[in-house]
Amino acid sequence: MLKHDLVYLTEDATHDAVIELINDEAFGPGRFTKSSARIREQGPHDRALSYVCCDDGETIASVRMTPVLAGSVKGHLLGPLAVRPSHKNRGIGRELVRIAVDAARRKGSEAVILVGDAPYYMPLGFEKVAYNALTFPAPTDPARILVAPFAPDTHSRLKGVIAWRDKAVEAEAVERLLKSA
Ligand SMILES: CC(C)(COP(=O)(O)OP(=O)(O)OC[C@H]1O[C@@H](n2cnc3c(N)ncnc32)[C@H](O)[C@@H]1OP(=O)(O)O)[C@@H](O)C(=O)NCCC(=O)NCCS
Repeated sequence: MLKHDLVYLTEDATHDAVIELINDEAFGPGRFTKSSARIREQGPHDRALSYVCCDDGETIASVRMTPVLAGSVKGHLLGPLAVRPSHKNRGIGRELVRIAVDAARRKGSEAVILVGDAPYYMPLGFEKVAYNALTFPAPTDPARILVAPFAPDTHSRLKGVIAWRDKAVEAEAVERLLKSA
């Protein structure tokens, strides 16, 4: 496979079915019990920050991003990240992470958080979150909770519950505040 056959695209609804297949293949049926999946079931992911990789028109990898409030940090939860076995070890996973993190930073996210393998993500700019600082909706190995911080105070504000963040509700609240000012 030549590198130039690969195209990275923003996810849209036409990718839904194949992304389900890719994630089923990568994680199996147990994937819905993971702590990060429990956050994702609280609300939709953000398609504008979620990406697929296509090889000659076939979707072969995906990364999704979900808006979260983590302590007082308005960030995004990265995952699932999955690459089809036929395309592993070609840098596709790393490139999807890079694209999604850059997009989140450019669009004003305060951090990207994930539950994953530190040896894979730390060379990509992720750092360990302080032990027991964040409370997930299900038991989570603290050593696997990682963050790509976008501000010097991100770590100090990552304290408390992590949950899905309703951007529409937030926007309405800001509008109400502005009107009442
Ligand atoms: C993990 C995954 C996304 C990596 O995608 P990929 O495109 O194959 O990865 P890349 O080509 O970007 O990187 C490959 C490198 O990462 C390493 N790597 C892969 N998975 C790793 C892991 N879980 N922990 C540490 N290193 C890992 C490989 O050994 C390889 O190392 P090398 O460059 O020194 O040879 C892919 O293997 C996958 O879909 N796995 C199943 C689902 C999964 O575990 N997702 C991540 C959840 S945390």
